[in-house]
Amino acid sequence: MFIKYLQNRVLLIPFILIAILSNQIKVHSQSINTNEVLLNTKIDSIISILTIEEKIAMCHAQSKFSSAGVPRIGIPELWMSDGPHGIRPEMNWDNWNYANWTNDYVTAFPALTCLAATFNPDLSKEYGVSLGEEARYRKKDVLLGPGVNIYRTPLNGRNFEYLGEDPFLASEMVVPYIHGVQQNGVAACVKHYALNNQEQWRGHINVEVSDRALHEIYLPAFKAAIIEGQSWSIMGAYNKFRGEHCCHNQILLNDILKNKWAFDGVVISDWAGTHNTNQAIHNGLDIEMGTPSNKNISKRYPYNNNFLGLSFLEKINTGEVKEDILNDKVKRILRLMYRTTLNQDRPLGSINNKAHSNTAYKVATEGIVLLKNEDNLLPIDTHNNLNIAIIGENAKKSMTIGGGSSELKVAYEISPIEGLKKHFKNVNFKFSSGYSSNANEAENYRLNNEALSIAKESDIVFFIGGLNKNSSQDSEGSDRQQYNLPYDQDGLIESISEVNKNIAVILISGNAIRMPWLSDVKTVMQSWYLGSEAGNAIASIISGEVNPSGKLPFTFPKKLMDNGAHYYGELSYPGNGETQFYKEDILVGYRWHDTKKITPNFAFGYGLSYTSFDLSKINSDKKSYSSTDSIKISCEVKNTGTLKGSEVVQVYIGKKNSKVKRALKELKGFKKISVNEGKSKKIEIKIGVNKLAYYSEKKSEWNIEKGEYIIYVGNASDNITKELKITII
Ligand code: GLC
Repeated sequence: MFIKYLQNRVLLIPFILIAILSNQIKVHSQSINTNEVLLNTKIDSIISILTIEEKIAMCHAQSKFSSAGVPRIGIPELWMSDGPHGIRPEMNWDNWNYANWTNDYVTAFPALTCLAATFNPDLSKEYGVSLGEEARYRKKDVLLGPGVNIYRTPLNGRNFEYLGEDPFLASEMVVPYIHGVQQNGVAACVKHYALNNQEQWRGHINVEVSDRALHEIYLPAFKAAIIEGQSWSIMGAYNKFRGEHCCHNQILLNDILKNKWAFDGVVISDWAGTHNTNQAIHNGLDIEMGTPSNKNISKRYPYNNNFLGLSFLEKINTGEVKEDILNDKVKRILRLMYRTTLNQDRPLGSINNKAHSNTAYKVATEGIVLLKNEDNLLPIDTHNNLNIAIIGENAKKSMTIGGGSSELKVAYEISPIEGLKKHFKNVNFKFSSGYSSNANEAENYRLNNEALSIAKESDIVFFIGGLNKNSSQDSEGSDRQQYNLPYDQDGLIESISEVNKNIAVILISGNAIRMPWLSDVKTVMQSWYLGSEAGNAIASIISGEVNPSGKLPFTFPKKLMDNGAHYYGELSYPGNGETQFYKEDILVGYRWHDTKKITPNFAFGYGLSYTSFDLSKINSDKKSYSSTDSIKISCEVKNTGTLKGSEVVQVYIGKKNSKVKRALKELKGFKKISVNEGKSKKIEIKIGVNKLAYYSEKKSEWNIEKGEYIIYVGNASDNITKELKITII
């Protein structure tokens, strides 16, 4: 007994020494290698004194949103929380009900489709910093976000949580977000890795996709998050890829993530996304979360039933599994702890302050996309004594609740109607919801008529509708069942247009929708799920206090069959219940529309301003480039209107006569620039020639094809000002 006691104490010596030493040398995860070496030494010394049971316990949940530490020597637990646009309310220890605490009211930031629509990476950093401060203050070590799954179909219930259809835009926007979150000593957990592009059968659907489409479309944002973003954790997706669940998938987790990308962080399963002990042990999973507990196994340790619980322990004890597989998982977990909960220098965080509200407001106003504005119906002078009808349930409905795991309990939320009434003091507003998402036909008939009567007697109508995060209306766990707006909003908009031509349709949604009424309305504004500052942002745009500058991060097809995922029928989307084939391959979104020459209602990268811009003097610095060069595109942006505004110059590149299938053009650079009315500014966009590579399936590596390329420069994927020819030699 005494020997054992001594052993325990003696073994502690290296750890105590290192701990003392580390107090002189603060370990910052991003600093130079010496600290990395020190950190690894510390981690190894801890590993050497942990029991196998203690190490196993760290590899799975101990509650709904925490995993175990090592109480015996003071290694803390890891606490995790959703979500990508705000910190979720506290959940109960071991069920899906809210704990109803009173200290977990938060700021709701706009959903990530809005952030993507800003085309402003600097703003994404500010977003990450603010969100990370709120996570830190709520004492969360891992923020379960951002989500970067590519927008493949307008029916995917969770598109609102993600960054759109283009891998380059998603990559550029996700990196600063992660940097912002993690500078607070909170780990980002980029999700859902990978190919979780629909909610239908999300728990088991097996995705079959080519290596090219995998590497060129679906992985780039994850790769950027891991390599440039340095995300300290990543979440496996629910679905399967080539027959294995993504939470323990040899190709995705070991071959690509941990080997090719040299990921040194922690792979966390999606909740109940783990299905197999051997795969979980060997295929790269580090912490199993969400697998239901079983109190019959043990009252005190009900999560021992996890796949990485007792069955893992047994395989170690029998020698079937080598302990160094367990040690690798625990080293990763300890490294994440030293970056977060064991990082003595991490900031204290903050919550519900003016700075966070300002960030939410800036992202919301910069992300709103003005799609149509006939007769310059907007902006509306706030001094006008107009009669304005506000019609639509979304004018009042809270949009920070619902939608699944990303829902929030907010300190405040300004609804569209509240924001409008606050901004337009002299306007006489009349309101009717016009329809209700939970009323019967008779009630909706009454509401329709009520809406028409106020529309008739108004100068202008603001129709504030869209989707609403109810089931199948932009929500986790269910895809949309139709491309049209629900609750017969289309019919109501058509009826209103017959009695009043001055209609502005303000869509609150996270997905493209069908617009049969498009020619009958003067103005359309895509207004996203904007969070706490929603009403202030919408009113600021409508009043012209802020000039809209958002650009679409995904395409609005005229009809669903115009979308590549739907063109190939059920086996492509949603699949046959077991498997689906991404038959459109690399031609996702505008890549499909450009290449197949299918004109959408509104194109990727499109967005109007209250002013106008002229792009000129567009040139490349050279005519030919080697594979190690960077291409420099210069352009002059002139504000030819009467209002200060911002434009997003976009650079797409396509390969002429390529030996492999290619999209007509792909986004490879963009820059948002603010220009005062009547003024001009020069910008330069740098693009590495290596970014033009395609993924060779034969060689399983990236390949730069020599020859002629076309550079397309414009302010939308369907509005190109100039084409330049260059050659890669
Ligand atoms: C959910 C979601 C994931 C979330 C997790 C925890 O099922 O797929 O995004 O972070 O479970 O709530």
